[in-house]
Amino acid sequence: MADLVIRGGAAVTPAGLQPADVVIASGTIADLVPPGSPVGAPETVDATGCLILPGVIDAHVHFRTPGLTHKEDWDHASLAAVAGGVTTVLDMPNTLPATADADSLMAKAGLVAGHSRCHYGFYGALAASNLTCLPGLAAAGVLGFKVFLGETTASLPPPDDGQLLRAWQVTAGLGLRTMVHAENAAIIRLATAAPEGSVPAGGGDVGSLLAHGRSRPPVAEVEAVSRACLLAEAAGAPIAIAHLSTAGAAQVVRRAKGEGVDVRGETCPHYLLLTEQEVVTLGALAKVNPPLRSAADRDALWQAVGDGTIDQLGSDHAPHTPAEKACGDLQQAPAGFAGVQNSLPLLLGDPRLSVRRLVELLCEGPARNWGLWPRKGRIARGADADLAVVRPVPGRLPPRQWSLHPDSPVLRCRPARAEVLATVVGGRTAFRDGLPCGPATGVWLRP
Ligand code: NCD
Ligand code: ZN
Repeated sequence: MADLVIRGGAAVTPAGLQPADVVIASGTIADLVPPGSPVGAPETVDATGCLILPGVIDAHVHFRTPGLTHKEDWDHASLAAVAGGVTTVLDMPNTLPATADADSLMAKAGLVAGHSRCHYGFYGALAASNLTCLPGLAAAGVLGFKVFLGETTASLPPPDDGQLLRAWQVTAGLGLRTMVHAENAAIIRLATAAPEGSVPAGGGDVGSLLAHGRSRPPVAEVEAVSRACLLAEAAGAPIAIAHLSTAGAAQVVRRAKGEGVDVRGETCPHYLLLTEQEVVTLGALAKVNPPLRSAADRDALWQAVGDGTIDQLGSDHAPHTPAEKACGDLQQAPAGFAGVQNSLPLLLGDPRLSVRRLVELLCEGPARNWGLWPRKGRIARGADADLAVVRPVPGRLPPRQWSLHPDSPVLRCRPARAEVLATVVGGRTAFRDGLPCGPATGVWLRP
């Protein structure tokens, strides 16, 4: 007996676009049947004119629980997720306290339980301060680790190279991948003190707006990505480079992949759609780490998306309050902004991306990278019933935003190209016709 049928749409399967009705029973995809087949079910979603995609797996979000819930909370963020076709999020450990040992992981999971409309998994921190805690975090159920090599929001002390090599010998044994925020801390420190090309006090506005970018120059990323690839290779550890932002860093990942290093590449919609020009026009709202870059960097990232160097798109959903963002001093303003609701609407229908490639980047890649494939990330008989029903509507303004602090430089500057009509999480409609439905039934995903 089916629970739900999605009728009249085109399903994006690993084999391509397939007109099919999707039959869902007991939380899984029971069958794909020819359109109009007689299937009885208590609930039907009319997907005429729509695409049916695997639910987006956003493997890079900062949902801010615990300790930073003035910036974002799980109820708002997980609703924003399902409103954007996201059915699974992987949450970063730079909370207060950080997710740095098994107890803090269990405490975070306890706070999130019953509040998530989407499924969720957690990263454990890998920092100078918690190197003995990695096996305990793995045993308690993290899907991977996150290391910050340079300082950022609620930052964890970066390990030195020896500590990192040791830690990666451990994570290799645990069989868990580490996501790397790859910016060189020492270069940032020096360049922050005297940003290259900085303007003297009283200098031009544009110069002071771009000072943040100059304080984190491309070489800070290129060096950290190179070092991460080298140490990961030596340790035999799987890694992923978070939010690639420069041509040089993408080239390092391309080369390392070619040499057989187990490295995956992530970028975010803002690095593909914006440049440092948006920092000039929007100021602190567009401040993010790593910073928005040049048009040449943006174009190189599109190339890396095209040739497979980049295999995952994450939103880096990292909201702050409007007051924090508007503190008046760009150097003091926090970095990051909301995004979990917008990856799919912003990128579906972009002429540079086929629908199949977009599904590889938003669904299949993250599922493979974090141990969720083949249950998640694809539409196939027997896979989990996590799905997004979307209608391409070029140029339409984005619908209501659900994050606690949803402002985003991307939404200010780029049109949403698609509307999410329905999101199915674990076989239940979690979002439909512009509104959330039912209770929060997302589950904690562990290896
Ligand atoms: C992130 C945050 O605020 O948590 N900010 C950001 O600019 N990306 C931290 C991070 O990933 O650097
Ligand atoms: Zn980061």
